Amino acid sequence: MTFSFLIFCFIFLWPISVVAQIAGNVSVGASLLATEYSSQWLSPSGDFAFGFRQVNNNKDLFIVAIWYNKIPEKTIVWYANGDRPVPRGSKLELFLDSGLVLNGPQGEVLWSAQTINTSFVAYGFMNDTGNFVLLNENLLVVWESFKNPTDTMLPTQILQINEVLASHHKETDFSRGRFQFRLREDGNVVLTPIDLLSNNTYDPYYITNTGDTRNSTNSGYQVIFDESGYFYVLSRNNTKFYLTPEEKVPAANSYHRATLNFDGVFSLSYHPKNFTDNQSWTVIKTIPENICRSIYGEIGSGACGYNNVCILKNDGRPMCKCPPNYSLLDPDDEYGSCKPDFILGCQADGLWSQEDLYDMEELPNTDWPTSDYELSEPFTERQCRVSCLQDCMCAVSIFRNGDKCWKKKLPLSNGRVDNLFYGLKAFVKVSRGDQPQLNPRSLIPKKNAQQKSKNKLIILLAVLLTSSVIASSLGFIFIYRNKRTRVDRDTSVETNLRCFAYKELQEATNGFKHELGRGAFGVVYKGTIRQGSFVQVAVKKLNNVAQDGEKEFRTEVNVIGQTHHKNLVRLLGFCEDGPQRLLVYEFLSNGTLASLLFGEFKPSWNQRVQIAFGIARGLLYLHEECSNQIIHCDIKPQNILLDEYYNARISDFGLAKLLFLDQSQTSTAIRGTKGYVAPEWFRNLPITVKVDVYSFGVLLLEIICCRRSVDTDASGSEKIILTYWAFDCYQERTLDALVENDMEALNDREKLERFVAIAIWCIQEDPSLRPTMKKVTQMLEGVLQVPIPPCPTPFIMTN
Ligand SMILES: *[C@@H]1O[C@H](CO)[C@@H](O)[C@H](O)[C@H]1NC(C)=O
Ligand SMILES: *[C@@H]1O[C@H](CO)[C@@H](O)[C@H](O)[C@H]1NC(C)=O
Ligand SMILES: *[C@@H]1O[C@H](CO)[C@@H](O)[C@H](O)[C@H]1NC(C)=O
Ligand SMILES: *[C@@H]1O[C@H](CO)[C@@H](O)[C@H](O)[C@H]1NC(C)=O
Ligand SMILES: *[C@@H]1O[C@H](CO)[C@@H](O)[C@H](O)[C@H]1NC(C)=O
Ligand SMILES: *[C@@H]1O[C@H](CO)[C@@H](O)[C@H](O)[C@H]1NC(C)=O
Ligand SMILES: *[C@@H]1O[C@H](CO)[C@@H](O)[C@H](O)[C@H]1NC(C)=O
Ligand SMILES: *[C@@H]1O[C@H](CO)[C@@H](O)[C@H](O)[C@H]1NC(C)=O
Ligand SMILES: *[C@@H]1O[C@H](CO)[C@@H](O)[C@H](O)[C@H]1NC(C)=O
Repeated sequence: MTFSFLIFCFIFLWPISVVAQIAGNVSVGASLLATEYSSQWLSPSGDFAFGFRQVNNNKDLFIVAIWYNKIPEKTIVWYANGDRPVPRGSKLELFLDSGLVLNGPQGEVLWSAQTINTSFVAYGFMNDTGNFVLLNENLLVVWESFKNPTDTMLPTQILQINEVLASHHKETDFSRGRFQFRLREDGNVVLTPIDLLSNNTYDPYYITNTGDTRNSTNSGYQVIFDESGYFYVLSRNNTKFYLTPEEKVPAANSYHRATLNFDGVFSLSYHPKNFTDNQSWTVIKTIPENICRSIYGEIGSGACGYNNVCILKNDGRPMCKCPPNYSLLDPDDEYGSCKPDFILGCQADGLWSQEDLYDMEELPNTDWPTSDYELSEPFTERQCRVSCLQDCMCAVSIFRNGDKCWKKKLPLSNGRVDNLFYGLKAFVKVSRGDQPQLNPRSLIPKKNAQQKSKNKLIILLAVLLTSSVIASSLGFIFIYRNKRTRVDRDTSVETNLRCFAYKELQEATNGFKHELGRGAFGVVYKGTIRQGSFVQVAVKKLNNVAQDGEKEFRTEVNVIGQTHHKNLVRLLGFCEDGPQRLLVYEFLSNGTLASLLFGEFKPSWNQRVQIAFGIARGLLYLHEECSNQIIHCDIKPQNILLDEYYNARISDFGLAKLLFLDQSQTSTAIRGTKGYVAPEWFRNLPITVKVDVYSFGVLLLEIICCRRSVDTDASGSEKIILTYWAFDCYQERTLDALVENDMEALNDREKLERFVAIAIWCIQEDPSLRPTMKKVTQMLEGVLQVPIPPCPTPFIMTN
C-alpha cells in the first residue's frame, strides 16, 4: 500500500512538479533549502534561476539570489540578504499569507518579501526577464524583484524617483557598499558615495543633468532599460537622455545588464546568448569616465579608502594601491583604507630628530587633492621635501606648478595617480627602519643630488602686481591680482628635445617645399625626419624671435619641450643656427579645427563636444597643472589641430612668451587674433590666464554653432558678432536659432544650454567673473552646476 503510493507519487507527482517548474510557476508551499546541492526555481526558458548561492568564498554561508543560469559566470543580478548571509540549512518558503520568507535553521525569520496591501499570495513566477514576482488570486503582482532592485537593472525594468541601485561591498561580499545610483526628486540621475553609518549622500561624482529646476514639466522621472537594451532617463515631456552610447547598437540576441559595480563604476554590458568558450561580458559603457578624478568632495575617502591611491585601469575601472610603508587596514579589502606601518606624528621624536627617523619617498603624478593644512610658495622642490620631513605633523607634501608646496595630514583622501598631472610629485614620509642612525645621511637621494647641483633653480621674481582700475562709466572698482613667476633655468636642463642643424631641416622639408599653413609666428612646412624610423613632422620657421639672445630661446624651448599632455601638440626638436630659429613638432594628420568646423561637412555634435572637452583639458593643464604656467594668448580654431582620432591638440603654446619675452608687463602690443582677444588687451590691464578663458569662450561658441565668431555674411546684422548673438539667444531661450536647427545639438538640449552658458561665463568682460579652466572643465563635464550667467558686456549693452 505505502509502497504503491510512493510509486504513484514518483511516477505522477514528480514529473508534474518538474513541468510546473519549467513553466516558471512556483506554488504556495514550495521551498528551497540552503545547501550547495539545493534546487532552483527556473524561468520558463531557463535563462534565469532563483535560489541559494554561496558567498564570500565561504562554503557555509548563503544568500538568496537571482542569476543568469545559462552562462558559465552565473552572474548574480539580484540578491535578498546581502548584509546577512544565512547558514547552511536555512529555508526559503512561499506562504499564502506571509509571502516569501527566509528562515534560519532555528526557524527565526531572516528576510521576507513584503507584499503590497498584505495580500494573499496565489503563486510565484520566475519570469524570463529576470523578474521574480508574487501574484494574488486576481493575478495582480503583489511583490516583484524589479521593484526592489539591488545593484543591477535588466531590460524591461524601470527605476522611479527616489529609487536606488546600491553597490555591494566587494567583488565577493554582498553587504552594502559605499556607492549609490539614484533617480533624484529633481529629475537627475546621480552617482554618489555615501556614509555607510548614516546613509548620508556626498556630492555626486556623476550627474545626468536631466533635472530642470526652471520647468519641472521637463525634468526626468523614470530610468528605463528597454527590451532592446537601451538605457535612458525619460523626462516628463517624453525626451530620452541615453546612457547607452548611440554609435554602439547593442548586439541582438544578447543578455543586457546595467550594474553599479562594487568599485563605484556604473557599467552597461552584454553577453551573447549563443556564445563560444572565449566570449563573456562585453562592456559598452562605463560611467564616470575616470572615477579616480571624478570623486573629489572635501568629505569622504574618494574612490579608494583613506590614505589609498586610485589608479584607473584601461577597462575604465579603478584599482587601489597603498603608498610605500602603508598597508591595508583590512588585508582582504584592497579598495579600503591604508594605515602607516610606522609611528607617524609628533610623539615619535624622543631622542631622535625627524631626519633620523624618516625619509621622503617620491611618487610621480600622485596627488591627494584634499587634506591640506599648509601651502608654501614660492618653494623649490627640495624645500618642499625637506619642510615636510622636518615637520612632525606632515605626512605628505605635494609639489606642483613649479613653486607650490602643499603639506598634508592624515587621513589622506581622494588619492589618485593621474598621468594628466605631469610635473606633479608627492613626497611621502616613510620610516628609515627601526635602527635610526646617529649621523643622518644627506637628505637628498643620490639620484637627484647630481641633477640638483647642476640645476641651479633660482626663483627670480614673484611679483604680485596689484592694480586697481576704475572701470569706465559706472565707476566700479575692480581689483586684479596678477602673479608672475619667472624661473631662470640653466640651459643644460635635460629634455628629450633634439637640436637640428638648419641644413638638416632644409633636407627634411625638401627645401621648405610643402607649406602646411601660415600664422602670426611664421610659416609651417611638412617634413620627414629620421628618428629610429621615418617620422612625419611639421617644421615651423619662426619670423621674429626676440633679440634677447640664445639663452632665452633655449629656456623657453625647454619649457615647451617639457610640457606634455594628450591635448597638446608635442615639440620634438628645435634649430638655432645663425639667425634661424625653427621648431619641429609632431605632424597631425587631420588638419586644424578651423577647417573641420567651417568646412563643407559639419562634424557631429558628439564629436564637437569631445573636442571642446579636449581643448579645455589642454588649457587646464597649461594653466594649472604643468610645472611652468603657460598663458597661450592665441587660442583660436586655427591653433587647434586634430590627430588621427580627432582628438583636439593645442599648438603654439609657449610661443607668445618666446616671441615677446616681456610678458610680465601689461600689454604693449596686442598678442592674439581679432575676434578672440580679451578686452584686457585694450585696456592696459594685467594679462592673466583669464585671457585664454575668454578666447576659449569664443571658441566654444564657434564649436557649438559651427560658424566663425565674426561673420559679416550672416543673415541679419544682429547675428554678425557671435558673442552678442549667442547671449541674445540664450536670454530669449531661442537656442534653436543659434544652432540653426542642428537637431543633434537640440536633442541634447540640456548640454547645449549648459555649454552656451559656460561660454557666456568665459567671455565676461570682467576677467574676475570668468571661471578658471578648472571650473570650466568641471562645468563642461557636468559635475559642477552652471549658474545663470550675467550679460558679458555690462558697460556696452544697452538693450
Ligand atoms: C501558473 O499558476 C497559475 C495559478 O495556479 C496559473 O493560473 C497559471 O496558468 C500557471 N502558469 C503556467 C504557465 O503554468
Ligand atoms: C513576464 O514578462 C513578460 C514580458 O515583460 C510580461 O509580459 C509578463 O506579464 C510577465 N509575467 C508575469 C507573470 O509577470
Ligand atoms: C492595493 O490597494 C490599493 C488601494 O486600496 C489598490 O488600488 C491596489 O490595486 C491594491 N494592489 C493590489 C496588488 O492589490
Ligand atoms: C541605511 O540604509 C539601509 C538600506 O536601505 C538600511 O538598512 C539602514 O537601516 C539605513 N541606516 C540608517 C541609519 O538609516
Ligand atoms: C515648460 O516646458 C513646456 C515644454 O516642454 C512648455 O510647454 C511649458 O509652457 C513650460 N512651462 C513653463 C512654466 O515655462
Ligand atoms: C523636454 O525637456 C528637456 C529637458 O529635460 C528638454 O531638453 C527638451 O527639449 C524638452 N522637450 C520638449 C519636446 O519640450
Ligand atoms: C549558435 O551558434 C552556433 C555556432 O556559432 C550555430 O551553429 C547555432 O545555430 C547557433 N544557435 C542559435 C540558436 O543561434
Ligand atoms: C574565440 O574563439 C574562436 C574559435 O573558437 C575564434 O575564432 C575567435 O577568434 C576567438 N575570439 C577571441 C576574441 O579570442
Ligand atoms: C618602509 O619601512 C621599512 C621598515 O619598517 C624600511 O626598511 C623601508 O626602507 C621603508 N621604506 C620603504 C620605501 O618601503
